[in-house]
Amino acid sequence: MVGTQWGDEGKGKFTDLLAKEMSMVVRYQGGHNAGHTLVVDDETFALQLVPSGVLYDHIEPVIGNGVVVDPFVLLAELDMLNRRGIDTRNLRVSGNAHLIMPYHQQLDALQERHLGKSKLGTTKRGIGPTYADKATRMGVRVQDLLDEQIFREKLAAALSHHNKVLTKVFNRLPVDPDGLADKILGECLEPLRPHIADTTDLIHTALESGQHVLFEGAQATFLDLDHGTYPFVTSSNPTAGGACAGTGVGPRHIDRVLGIAKAYVTRVGAGPFPTELFDDDGDKMVDIGHEYGTNTGRRRRPGWFDAVMLRHAVRLNSLTDLAITKLDVLDTFETVKVCVGYEIDGVRTDKLPYHQSDLHDAVPVYEELPGWRTDLSSATEPRHLPAAAHTYLELIQDQVGVPISLVSTGPGRTQFLHLS
Ligand code: GDP
Ligand code: IMO
Ligand code: MG
Repeated sequence: MVGTQWGDEGKGKFTDLLAKEMSMVVRYQGGHNAGHTLVVDDETFALQLVPSGVLYDHIEPVIGNGVVVDPFVLLAELDMLNRRGIDTRNLRVSGNAHLIMPYHQQLDALQERHLGKSKLGTTKRGIGPTYADKATRMGVRVQDLLDEQIFREKLAAALSHHNKVLTKVFNRLPVDPDGLADKILGECLEPLRPHIADTTDLIHTALESGQHVLFEGAQATFLDLDHGTYPFVTSSNPTAGGACAGTGVGPRHIDRVLGIAKAYVTRVGAGPFPTELFDDDGDKMVDIGHEYGTNTGRRRRPGWFDAVMLRHAVRLNSLTDLAITKLDVLDTFETVKVCVGYEIDGVRTDKLPYHQSDLHDAVPVYEELPGWRTDLSSATEPRHLPAAAHTYLELIQDQVGVPISLVSTGPGRTQFLHLS
C-alpha cells in the first residue's frame, strides 16, 4: 500500500481495514515522521512507528530494515498502546533498521534553521540525518544494541564527526558518547530486546507458508527521495520498490499494489504544488477535512485532485488499483474539479514535466463537474452514492487508468465501500 500524493492520504485507515485479511503488516521505510490515524468506534489511534495492523491480535506487526527507529519514541508508542489495552508483544523490529539518535534530531532542526527561508519544512524527527549516516556508513543499527562494545564504538565514531559539526559549524555543545550510550542501553535495551529479530527471515517464512503480508507505505510517491519533488522530499523511498529494499523481499512476491489517494490533494511542508488553492475552496477542504498534521499539527496545504500526478504514480509504483479517501469532504461543494493536464509556457501537456522548473510554472487544466451536495458519511455500497459522485470517480478512474476498488467516506473503520 502506497501513498500516491504528498502523504496523509489515509494509509493508516486502509492498512487497518485490509489487515483483517492479512497475517503480517510491515513498515518498510520512513520513521516517526509518519502519522497514521485509525478510528475504531469512538477511539482514535495516531501511530508513528508501529504498523497500523497492530490493533488486531492475529497480526504480527513488523518494522522492516528500511525504517529508521527512534528507540524512545518506539517504546513510548508501545507503552501508549499497552495502556489502551493493545497487546504489542508480537511486534518485531529488524536488527538491520537504523537508529535515530538525539543528535540526528538536533542536526535536523539546526539544518532547517540554517536554510532559513529555503527550509524544507521537515518534521524535525531526525529522518534526513539518520538516512545520511546510513548512506555514509556512519549509522548505528538496532542490532548494535545487542553488543555493548560495538554500540559504544559506533556511537563514539559517529560523534567524533558530528560533534565537530555541532560545535564548529553550529556553535553548540558536543554530545558525550558514553553518556548517550549509558542512557540508551539503560533505558531501551531490555524493553526492546524481545522485539529485535531477523525480520527478512520472518517475512519469507510467512510467505512460504502461504500467508498474506501487507507492506504499509509511509509518506508518499511525491515525497520519494528519487521520484519526488526534490529537495522537498523525505529521505527514503516510499514508492512500491522501496518495499523490496526495505524488507528484503523480491518484487515477484508482490501481487497487488494499492495506491491511496485523497479525493483532493494536501501537502505539508514546502515544495511545488500545481493545484494548490489559496481561496475559500481550499479553506473549506482544510476545515471540513481537518487538514492539520497528525504529527506536527501544521496546517496542510490544500488543492484539487491532480490526475497528472496520479498517472505518474501509476507508473512509478505499478499500481493495480486505487482507494479514494475523504470523498465526504467534498459533499458540500457546488462544483468539483480534477486537473487533467498542465499548461507550461502556453503548451498543453498530459505528463508530469521531467524538469522541475517546469512544474513550478505548470498551470493546471481542469475539468469541472457538478458537486453531489449529499452527505456521504453513511454510504457503504455503490448504490448509496449519487450519480454526480459516481461521475466524479469515473472521471478520476478514466484519467488515471487504473480501477478504483475502494472509496472511503469518513474516518471510521466502517465508512467505506467496495467499488469494483
Ligand atoms: P496517513 O498518514 O495516510 O495514514 O493519513 P493521516 O492519518 O495522516 O491523515 C488522514 C486523516 O483523515 C486522518 O485523520 C483520518 O482519520 C482521516 N480520514 C481517513 N479517511 C477519511 C475519510 O474517508 N473521510 C474523512 N472525513 N476523514 C478520513
Ligand atoms: P504520512 O506517512 C505528510 C514531509 C514533511 C516535509 C518532508 C520532509 O503520515 O503520510 P522529513 O521529516 O521526512 O525529512 O520531512 O516530508 N513529510 C510528510 N508529509 N505525511 C507524512 O507522512 C510525511 N512525512 C514527511 O512535511 O515536507
Ligand atoms: Mg499522516
